[in-house]
Amino acid sequence: MSSTFQNAPPLRLSRRAMAIQESAIRKLDASVNKVSGVFFHRMNIGQPDVPTPRAVMDALAAEDSQVLAYGPASGLLECRDAAAAFHSRTSPGLTREHTVVTQGGSEALLFAMVGLCDPGDEILVPEPYYTNYNGFATFAGAKVVPVPTRLDEGFAIPSDDVLDSLVTERTRIFLFANPGNPTGAVYGAEQLRRVAAWARRKGLWLVADEVYRAIWFSAPPLSALNLAGHEDHVIVVDSTSKTFSACGLRIGFLVSRNLELMERLERLGQARLGPQPRGQRAAIAALQLPESYYAEVRHIYKSRVDAMMDALAEIPGLAFHRPEGAFYTMARLPVSDTERFARWLVDEFRDTTTGRAESVVVAPGPGFYADPSKGRDEIRLAAVREESQLRRAVAVLGAGLRQFRG
Ligand SMILES: Cc1ncc(COP(=O)(O)O)c(C=O)c1O
Repeated sequence: MSSTFQNAPPLRLSRRAMAIQESAIRKLDASVNKVSGVFFHRMNIGQPDVPTPRAVMDALAAEDSQVLAYGPASGLLECRDAAAAFHSRTSPGLTREHTVVTQGGSEALLFAMVGLCDPGDEILVPEPYYTNYNGFATFAGAKVVPVPTRLDEGFAIPSDDVLDSLVTERTRIFLFANPGNPTGAVYGAEQLRRVAAWARRKGLWLVADEVYRAIWFSAPPLSALNLAGHEDHVIVVDSTSKTFSACGLRIGFLVSRNLELMERLERLGQARLGPQPRGQRAAIAALQLPESYYAEVRHIYKSRVDAMMDALAEIPGLAFHRPEGAFYTMARLPVSDTERFARWLVDEFRDTTTGRAESVVVAPGPGFYADPSKGRDEIRLAAVREESQLRRAVAVLGAGLRQFRG
């Protein structure tokens, strides 16, 4: 090296970059990809194999513009209209001004956090929670403060007294997913109204991540957009990823009746220019699908979740919450370190009873907690394959568990 640079200060990465956690869900994939000759049942990632609706594929294929141009910051007006019409099916009175198109639900979450938090502010989130909330909060310079919930209480949000004890002068948002990932829990209307009233009393924004709202099994979740009297402090995050099995489309939405907030979000959108117009035209086709489409999606996931849960019930020593929505369950295993168990399944365990080597990939519990010493006996499983594959996956998991413990 030339002597001119010898005394130059060392390069450094930002504290934010260093603080970003590796996604618990993706963690094992790198190892899985290196192994050949083993069939891995992937129960760790919420990437469904349900075909994307034909109408969405056709809209993508129909694009014939000569130039791939920028679109407006808050999204194409037709796409915002389609989102408003879609949400108005259950929450009447929404117009394009109440919607912003984003690059996936992920960017909607990021916009909500950046739009509502200053660096150092805090976001309350019922725990266990979707692991990427930590990453978005880090981008925004904010901090996730977990609200403890328990598997044996159906992951219910704790009492106002418990919530009170978690609020500081830096708290800005109460964020929750309904239905929940990783829990599969659906919050009932009464619980939501109680939390909304509590958040209002504390001057907090209520951010409802409803990317799984169409996937429910007994009663439809109440959209936070329907919490009467709380219109100004509710923000809903939505996405085409799960409902339309279109994770790669990268189109999501932020919906709120607070027009001052929506105007500010437009400026955030301007800073990154617009979301991709082609994806938005496909999203319009998705949002215009009839109600029968949603019934079909629910039927598919209900059959899958039922198959997965029935198979899990066959394994002795497991505790789990039967999902009321989404397609995940958090299961408690008779194992003290599920990080080690999950890695062992990938690196060492092979079930050869069917003549081929099989194993299973699961998401270890600690990644869904703010404090990684929690959830050490839990794993998250995703019901994203068809029933017979799920039954086999759970059988392989059970065999792995027996061998690991034996
Ligand atoms: C609860 C929750 N919110 C948001 C997202 C992000 O979804 P998108 O693909 O729309 O960015 C996911 C993805 O798995 C999720 O599970």
